[in-house]
Amino acid sequence: MKLTKVWPELTLHHQSLAKVHLQDLFMNNPQRFSEFSVSFESLLLDYSKQKVTQETIWKLCALAEERDLKEQIHRLFSGEIVNSSEQRQALHTALRDRSDTPLLVKGHNIKPEMKKVLAAMDRCVTDLRSGHFRGATGKPIKDVISLGIGGSDLGPAMVNEALHRYKTTDLKIHFISNVDGWSLAALLKHLDPATTLCIINSKTFTTPETLQNAETIKVWFQKALGQDIQKHLIATTAYPERAQSFGVAEENIFEFWDFIGGRYSVWSSVGLPIALALGMENFKDFLAGANSMDQHFYSAPFDKNMPVLMALIGIWNINFWGCKTLAVLPYDDGLKQLPDYLQQLEMESNGKKADKEKGFVPYDTAPVIWGGVGCNGQHAYMQLLHQGTQVIPVDFLIAAEGHPDFEDQQKLLVASCLSQSKALMEGSKDKLALGPLSDAKLCEGNRPSNTLIYSKLTPKVLGSLIALYEHKVFTQAVLWGINPFDQWGVELGKKLVNEILPHLGKSSIPGSTDSSTAGLIEFFQKNRFER
Ligand code: F6P
Repeated sequence: MKLTKVWPELTLHHQSLAKVHLQDLFMNNPQRFSEFSVSFESLLLDYSKQKVTQETIWKLCALAEERDLKEQIHRLFSGEIVNSSEQRQALHTALRDRSDTPLLVKGHNIKPEMKKVLAAMDRCVTDLRSGHFRGATGKPIKDVISLGIGGSDLGPAMVNEALHRYKTTDLKIHFISNVDGWSLAALLKHLDPATTLCIINSKTFTTPETLQNAETIKVWFQKALGQDIQKHLIATTAYPERAQSFGVAEENIFEFWDFIGGRYSVWSSVGLPIALALGMENFKDFLAGANSMDQHFYSAPFDKNMPVLMALIGIWNINFWGCKTLAVLPYDDGLKQLPDYLQQLEMESNGKKADKEKGFVPYDTAPVIWGGVGCNGQHAYMQLLHQGTQVIPVDFLIAAEGHPDFEDQQKLLVASCLSQSKALMEGSKDKLALGPLSDAKLCEGNRPSNTLIYSKLTPKVLGSLIALYEHKVFTQAVLWGINPFDQWGVELGKKLVNEILPHLGKSSIPGSTDSSTAGLIEFFQKNRFER
């Protein structure tokens, strides 16, 4: 997409703010917090510690208008082809819209199918949690392995950890994603095949890591139970025929669709491990939280629209202040895996430079997403954020309500989170008081952050939070003119695996390969353990 009229105006506006310190913006406007924060249900976004003025927000909203964002949002929700390179829709929003309003894909209303799969999930959850679902030896299931990688793992794993306090079953859910045999062996040695079920989560049912693990687990079942292992395999996939040829019984396959992207699939049958752990009502609340955010995103004016504001502020920091990374710092152990989840959502969606129309975009796109829980980060990387040579914007996340028996912990957690964002904003207030080592001790401040504060981390709040980031990512893609729903960049690595893998079991080297790969293969061949 060509640079627009507004972009150069923003460049000039940035120059006018280059020398302004955040501390001055607060000093000159005691109402700054109320003017630069927005609430939605039990969630509040405080963006007053961002280097923005009202004029900045107006200009950024003008950029969104110029990129026809409203129409693009309508196209997303109504099932238009928004994934241009794969000629697909992206209808993760439909998965949490449980109304009977028809939604047509290629002339076919998809809502009844979505309702059917949700009902099948409900029955499966009831049968497994009640012990009605029996394995090959007639015993009930006690352990469930959730097998998948990327969007087929990160969502269920992150949500189950975030909402562990809502777990209402004795079923143990274990997540295996990587193809490192040590992790798989460490899990299997504690499990009884007769009382174990494996859910194979794979949209394509072609991902090498997942299929390698699935084959190994299948043999593990067969060694213990003989050939009749269909009672121990479930699949969630967009290709049921592939799951069936792998050996999953048709009635144990929970379908989703090509118009659901892997990193947007936690709301689909990929969320089965969540429903198993939390129960269907909590899973439906999770969907409802996302649906509420959808409605807000669809209808709120841009300057009061939480996902749009987060997207615009991100573009302001990336494209005008030159920030290359974004730190996601939840002061909430339940959200420990949120940075990992958002890495895929943001970096696999917008880590691109191909212009949706043609050629390449002339500006930066997705930042590197990283992060970790606070307060731990204060004893690891916050030094760089306060005194480093690069400015790293932060998204802080914090709950008001903590564990009922440990209120003092929650107060210290909240005080720590708020003090970090305050210190990043204002820096050392009295340089003279720093004494002779003032340069070494000085914190310049003027470092931007958002704070997302919510009453309590419930299924609804988490659903809203994830949808908030999904729509932020979509909005940024619209303004950058890129396609957030394909991921061609991961295909090359997959192709090269097939060239290297066959040589690792022999003493041969791929003919045309580079000397680095050849040297590394040779080291492996000389040093590997061979039964
Ligand atoms: O990383 C590439 C990718 O295709 C992701 O988009 C996807 O979430 C992951 O691999 C797993 O794919 P599948 O669900 O098809 O196994």
